[in-house]
Amino acid sequence: MRIYCEKDYNAMSRRAAAIIAAQVVAKPDCVLGLATGSTPVGAYKQLIEWNKQGDVSFAEVHSVNLDEYYGLAPEHDQSYRYFMQTNLFDHVDIAAENTNVPSGLADDPVAECARYEQVVADLGYADLQLLGLGRNGHIGFNEPCDHFPVATHLVDLTESTIDANARFFASADDVPKQALTMGIGTIMKARKILIVASGADKADAVQRAFAGPITPEMPASILQLHPDVTLVADEAALSKLKEANA
Ligand code: F6R
Repeated sequence: MRIYCEKDYNAMSRRAAAIIAAQVVAKPDCVLGLATGSTPVGAYKQLIEWNKQGDVSFAEVHSVNLDEYYGLAPEHDQSYRYFMQTNLFDHVDIAAENTNVPSGLADDPVAECARYEQVVADLGYADLQLLGLGRNGHIGFNEPCDHFPVATHLVDLTESTIDANARFFASADDVPKQALTMGIGTIMKARKILIVASGADKADAVQRAFAGPITPEMPASILQLHPDVTLVADEAALSKLKEANA
């Protein structure tokens, strides 16, 4: 595992963007696994800039997003499809038909999960999967539980995730209670994993994920078993991992 310790959010974002751009330059028709949330926003901004300057092109890239809230339309400003359009897709040369996000409006969400898993499988899984890290250790919407869910599935969000995301909605009651998410198995089939973390409120999760026991109670800890993981984080997010390794 490689760890990049950057001094702040901007430096972390530039480093993460450089790793994604390097993947796209090395393999222009690669499959990028993408994440939403606040952490990757700076990296996406940087990629947009490099795309505009002609340094990196997404024209042949396919993307597969990790997850989507169940019950939100793609046009809803808190849906993950909307997030991806506004934070990346609308500003770069990726083909709309090459972007994939689970549908939050499917009548049968379980069938939608199976369809989505097949889409990712047919693309050969991600060459590079970008991940954020939940404060409770979740990756995608794989919440702490008693097993590692394998494939894309419908999940009940935990209280802690609903609380963390309430800031984006009028109230915690408006936060969807379920989501469709790639499974841990889907994520682990990516050839490379890039996980980003910023801020002191991620320090515990980073420490537990990468220096603690591998347990579904800390879903990100499974990444210790992946052969090609890069963690890009700022000093605040790495503070406890550093103490553990001191
Ligand atoms: C996003 C996702 C989530 C976030 C995680 C961290 O698609 O699947 O696992 O990556 O909740 O979110 P932020 O970056 O907002 O702290």
